Amino acid sequence: MEVVTMDCKKFVEEQISQIKQTVGDATAINALSGGVDSSLVTVLGHRALAEQLKTVFVDNALMRQGEPQRVVNTFADMGIPVELVDAREEFLSALAGLTDPEEKRQAVTNTFYEKVFGRLVRESGAKFLLHGTILTDIEETIAGIKRQHNILAQLGIDPEEAYGYSVLEPLKTLRKDGVREVCEFLELPAEISQRIPFPGPALATRIVGEVTRQRLDTVRAATEIVEEELKDSGAFQYMAVLLNDRATGIRDNKREFGQIIVVRCIESTDARTATATELPWDKLQRICERIINEIEDVNRCLYDLTPKPPATVEYI
Ligand code: XMP
Repeated sequence: MEVVTMDCKKFVEEQISQIKQTVGDATAINALSGGVDSSLVTVLGHRALAEQLKTVFVDNALMRQGEPQRVVNTFADMGIPVELVDAREEFLSALAGLTDPEEKRQAVTNTFYEKVFGRLVRESGAKFLLHGTILTDIEETIAGIKRQHNILAQLGIDPEEAYGYSVLEPLKTLRKDGVREVCEFLELPAEISQRIPFPGPALATRIVGEVTRQRLDTVRAATEIVEEELKDSGAFQYMAVLLNDRATGIRDNKREFGQIIVVRCIESTDARTATATELPWDKLQRICERIINEIEDVNRCLYDLTPKPPATVEYI
C-alpha cells in the first residue's frame, strides 16, 4: 500500500512539473468528457497551470440525463472552472438520416474533432493541448485495433504548418487501473474515480438506427432507470439500448405498436470479453415494469444474455 501511494505521489509531482515546464507562460486547452482519463488530465493540468489552462466540456446532445451540468458542477466544487459548450445542434444534424453504425460513429468523431473542438482550439489561441491518452490507447493504435490517436491530425492541424502546436499526454504511461489509483490518491470524488465505462459516442452507441432528439429522449429515460436500479449491483457496466424495431402490445384494451428497450448488464475485467450478469429475477422485473410504465411508447423490455464475443458490449 505504501509503495503504491509513493508511486502515485511521484507520478503526480513529475507530471505537474513536466506540464509547467513545457507550457511555460503560454496557454493550454483540454476537452473534458467526464470520463476518468480526461478528468485526471483536467485535475493535473489545473494544478500545474491554473488559469493558463482552459477546459471545455462539449454538450453533444448524446449525454445522459443532467450529465453536462453535473460534470461541470463536480469540477466547480473542486475549484476548477469548466466551460460548457452547447454543440447539440451540430451533432444532431451530423447524425440526421444515418443508420449505419460506422457512419454514425464517424459523424460523432468528425463533428467533435474537425468542427467543434477544432474550432475551440483555434479560437482559444492555445498552443498546447492536454489529452488523456493512456497506454492502452497507444497499444491499440499500434495493433491497428483503434484508429490513430494523433489528435493534431484529427483536429485537422498540420503540426509542421502550425508550428508551435504541441500535445501533452500526461497519462500515456498508465493503464486504466493506474489512472483510477492516481484519482484515488488525489482523493477525487468517487463519481470520477469509480465511474462505470461510458463510450465517447455516448448514447449514439445505444440507439440502433437513426439518432433523433425523440429517440435520444427515450433511451435517456431508460438509461436513467437502469443506472438507478443497478448502481449497487457491482457489475462492470450496465445500460439501456433502443432497438430499431417495434412490437405489438396491448394497453388499456387498445392495441399499440410500441418501442423495444434492451437492458444489458455485464461482468468483465477489461471489456475485451464479457458475460451477462445473473441479476435477481425481482430486480429484472422491477426494471422492466418501470421501463414499460414510465417511458411513453415503450411496451417491451428485454434482458440481453449474450456474452462478448460474439456480441460487443455496445450495440453499434
Ligand atoms: P464494445 O462495444 O467494443 O465495447 O464491446 C468495449 C468497451 O469499450 C466501450 N466503448 C467505447 N469507449 N469510445 C470509448 O471511449 C468508443 O467509441 C467506445 N465504443 C465502445 C464500451 O462502453 C465498453 O466498455
